[in-house]
Amino acid sequence: MDGSFSSFMRGCHDERDSVIMHGMSDPAALRPLLAIETSCDDTACAILAYDGTILAEGVLSQNDHAILGGVVPEIAARAHLDALPALVQSVLAKASLTLADIDTFAGTTGPGLIGGLIVGSSYAKGLALALGRPFIAVNHIEGHVLTARLPALDANLQFPFLTMLVSGGHCQCISVEKTGQYIRLGGTIDDAAGEAFDKVAKMLGLGWPGGPALEKLAAEGRDDAFALPRPLKGRKGCDFSFSGLKTAVSRLIEPQGSGALPRQFAADVAASFQRAVADVMADRAEHALAMAPHSTALVVAGGVAANRTLRSALEAVAERHDIPFIAPPLRLCTDNAVMIGWAALERLHAGEQPHEIDVAARPRWPLSERQPATALS
Ligand code: KG4
Ligand code: ZN
Repeated sequence: MDGSFSSFMRGCHDERDSVIMHGMSDPAALRPLLAIETSCDDTACAILAYDGTILAEGVLSQNDHAILGGVVPEIAARAHLDALPALVQSVLAKASLTLADIDTFAGTTGPGLIGGLIVGSSYAKGLALALGRPFIAVNHIEGHVLTARLPALDANLQFPFLTMLVSGGHCQCISVEKTGQYIRLGGTIDDAAGEAFDKVAKMLGLGWPGGPALEKLAAEGRDDAFALPRPLKGRKGCDFSFSGLKTAVSRLIEPQGSGALPRQFAADVAASFQRAVADVMADRAEHALAMAPHSTALVVAGGVAANRTLRSALEAVAERHDIPFIAPPLRLCTDNAVMIGWAALERLHAGEQPHEIDVAARPRWPLSERQPATALS
């Protein structure tokens, strides 16, 4: 990698975006909120009306990390800084708004990679300060768990509900009691689900992130080809563990030597691994529903929610419990700023006040801690 970071970064982004035209002539009536998300390797900005209508959104994915086989925090932070000014301008343009029209700013202040959190939240705070507008600090996990209540999803999802959050960085069962009140029923004791997909994909010689590639390859394989372990299945509670499963996969692969794996063998391993994860996830969801029997719905969130085998396993659990299964569209499952804006709005709708500008970014921020810390605490 020679040359400056910025030239390395430029041109390596790929933008997903969408716009919903508001068709209203008076921006003030919309009370637009602009949100920024930069907790990992996606730079995201979205503008929502006060009622939660999505006015515009954009996500720049830092494909550069694929070359390096994983997210490099320092590179990610610099890339966010590089990407934000143009991204914010393009999202404003798509919403036919200017910065002066924005009523409130929101930014992710944790949990996540500290460099990116500081860059994105400082950017949002800077805009709020310059324009004399309020700032809301949003917990990234809260964004994921409240997404399913977005008006655009039309799910009419009422509290309390159970969310299975399965992403590259998180794997938790959360009972969402109401805005700001979350009970973490269980979580992973080692890797996150997405991390396990990525590591197994790497063993199979697939690219990064490996989840989507592994799912594709698994379609050519038999999911009963290998008897892989189902860690913690049947155990009390709803914790997860993926390290034993990962080790079992590496033991299967080792005898094949260092060259490329035979395609059918790799596909059978991928399918068997995916089946094992889905079985464990369904079992954990069953246990979580037994712990939170008042749940009105089973919701899946996070990037791994894209996996069809996993979705259908969870859907079957919801069916058995006679509750709806809700899986937001993929662009709202993976990291995005719409969910950050919506979580901020849910807080405002619940009557909460915006935060002081000295709210600190923090790499760890458990959902059980309702308020973000200030820089001085
Ligand atoms: O939520 P996300 O975009 O970022 C984090 O907050 O981590 O999730 C990314 C993760 C990666 O580990 C990726 O491999 C996984 O989600 N993923 C999948 C699939 N699509 C994405 N895992 C399994 N099957 C998929 N189809
Ligand atoms: Zn996330």
